[in-house]
Amino acid sequence: MNYRVPRTRKEIFETLIKGLQRLEYRGYDSAGVAIDGNNNEVKERHIQLVKKRGNVKALDEELYKQDSMDLKVEFETHFGIAHTRWATHGVPNAVNSHPQRSDKGNEFVVIHNGIITNYKDLRKFLESKGYEFESETDTETIAKLIKYVFDNRETEDITFSTLVERVIQQLEGAFALVFKSIHYPGEAVATRRGSPLLIGVRSKYKLSTEQIPILYRTRNIENVKNICKTRMKRLDSSTCLHAVGDKAVEFFFASDASAIIEHTNRVIFLEDDDIAAVADGKLSIHRVKRSASDDPSRAIQTLQMELQQIMKGNFSAFMQKEIFEQPESVFNTMRGRVNFETNTVLLGGLKDHLKEIRRCRRLIVIGCGTSYHAAVATRQVLEELTELPVMVELASDFLDRNTPVFRDDVCFFISQSGETADTLLALRYCKDRRALTVGVTNTVGSSISRETDCGVHINAGPEIGVASTKAYTSQFISLVMFGLMMSEDRISLQNRRREIIHGLRSLPELIKEVLSLDEKIHDLALELYTQRSLLVMGRGYNYATCLEGALKIKEITYMHSEGILAGELKHGPLALIDKQMPVIMVIMKDPCFAKCQNALQQVTARQGRPIILCSKDDTESSKFAYKTIELPHTVDCLQGILSVIPLQLLSFHLAVLRGYDVDFPRNLAKSVTVE
Ligand code: G6P
Repeated sequence: MNYRVPRTRKEIFETLIKGLQRLEYRGYDSAGVAIDGNNNEVKERHIQLVKKRGNVKALDEELYKQDSMDLKVEFETHFGIAHTRWATHGVPNAVNSHPQRSDKGNEFVVIHNGIITNYKDLRKFLESKGYEFESETDTETIAKLIKYVFDNRETEDITFSTLVERVIQQLEGAFALVFKSIHYPGEAVATRRGSPLLIGVRSKYKLSTEQIPILYRTRNIENVKNICKTRMKRLDSSTCLHAVGDKAVEFFFASDASAIIEHTNRVIFLEDDDIAAVADGKLSIHRVKRSASDDPSRAIQTLQMELQQIMKGNFSAFMQKEIFEQPESVFNTMRGRVNFETNTVLLGGLKDHLKEIRRCRRLIVIGCGTSYHAAVATRQVLEELTELPVMVELASDFLDRNTPVFRDDVCFFISQSGETADTLLALRYCKDRRALTVGVTNTVGSSISRETDCGVHINAGPEIGVASTKAYTSQFISLVMFGLMMSEDRISLQNRRREIIHGLRSLPELIKEVLSLDEKIHDLALELYTQRSLLVMGRGYNYATCLEGALKIKEITYMHSEGILAGELKHGPLALIDKQMPVIMVIMKDPCFAKCQNALQQVTARQGRPIILCSKDDTESSKFAYKTIELPHTVDCLQGILSVIPLQLLSFHLAVLRGYDVDFPRNLAKSVTVE
């Protein structure tokens, strides 16, 4: 937003598009902008929306095709908003992309990062009041809700930020929101809860303050009215930020510093439930409640980082960032679906087909690479909770065998990208045989999510590193949630369900604990990185952990690595064991513990020197270990989520030490769209 900084429309476009391009790594299935229409009189401006399916480049091209928009028009004050989308609700297309609008006249427009979990209830309410929806998004409810609050305002001079305050009191879920309105020309309001949001400040002139004091509001409407009149309308230097003497100043709102760093490195990080408003070139921040930190102000900070660094945060590679994102990504997978109070799970995308699924003959779970491993990892718990036969299949092999499929089969297609050719062909094969098809993807609008009858979006957020990490743990949880939903009425399974749901709740914290072992794992990598080969062995719930760990090591370190089922040790792999061969053994306190001890004895009897991933309280295994990595304990069927993380970290450190490009390993692609 520029204030007393004349900018042409072309410059405004360029700023918005550049910012989006910097954020494109987070999502790129559609994009849109809202800017002021041609009239330069602030009071008479209307809002022009341009939205386009595809990447930011497609939007950029579209902008210049708009005949009605004069690129040379100059604005002294202007507030434009732009968004690049990674769909969570609704397929990627222009209508579903952001900004979303309140009505055909674009009275209010909003951009949103996050997920509104109660949007269905809000939408129902707003529809009952006559508001007509045009998209399938959760975000559109926000645009309609602010118009509803505005249409029902009790006073004419209600401020823009008061409207937003009332809106967010109704929202559940996560959001970073930026609003623009024709009723408040030249003004901007932004707020967040759970999703990041920051404000960049650029001015040639001295700023009125380096600390912006927070205004606290009360819920009492009369008070709000008074405060609006006396304080918000007459902002002074004690309650807001501006360039001294009302001089030129520009504010940039963004979910990530990478979008704005080329304009300014002076930023204010908003906290949950902060409402930031810019009017007349002045920024003020208010809250309804005191913040958890109880900090009465927000400081302007100076960022020292390079652009590339900001995109990856403090991490040297996207893969590393994605590994460390897992406490949040698994939480996002469960958000709004697992009710920890009632011990129930609701997957919205499956609920209408649940009856049919419960009647089926068997479940077939199909995928490639890491996605296949997520199927292997959850097979046992799915068999237990659904009491159905479960086949897990590599898509290519499933097709090669012309596997018999029947109309009373239910076939799951697991795919991060939703575009993998083998998985897609297997889907079409099953559709031809009239089976019910279920997609489990990380990409709304992908071919697999479109072509399946129903599905689950794993909500892990975009994954950039070719070696999949956070998608695996989110796929794992999605399949467990499906099992829990299927078993809701089974009386005999209630205790087990409670145990698993309880385990799900503490996962984010336990993942953090595992991530704190990073340094220890780095030290282990220092010992191993010159080796040619690395075996990973385990069984039961952790067989998939071994397959997935070995795949990570192969993919990015180019070492030979094999995931071995410990039960098969004596049928061949034992011949590989000697003093030199590095072996990692995954031994957890679960029903396979005693059998894993046998395998351990067999390895040590051949002078093997096992590195053991074991439970914190396991004194037995550690006696025979060359080294141990001790992990927190969780429910047996969820343990694989914790035990895979040290192997993700190990592969990362090995690849770095061997000098390879972690995010883009040779010969591999993130999305393999050929057979
Ligand atoms: C490629 C990627 C793997 C991924 C596999 C399946 O091989 O390199 O990381 O696991 O495809 O991809 P999907 O998108 O279907 O999960």
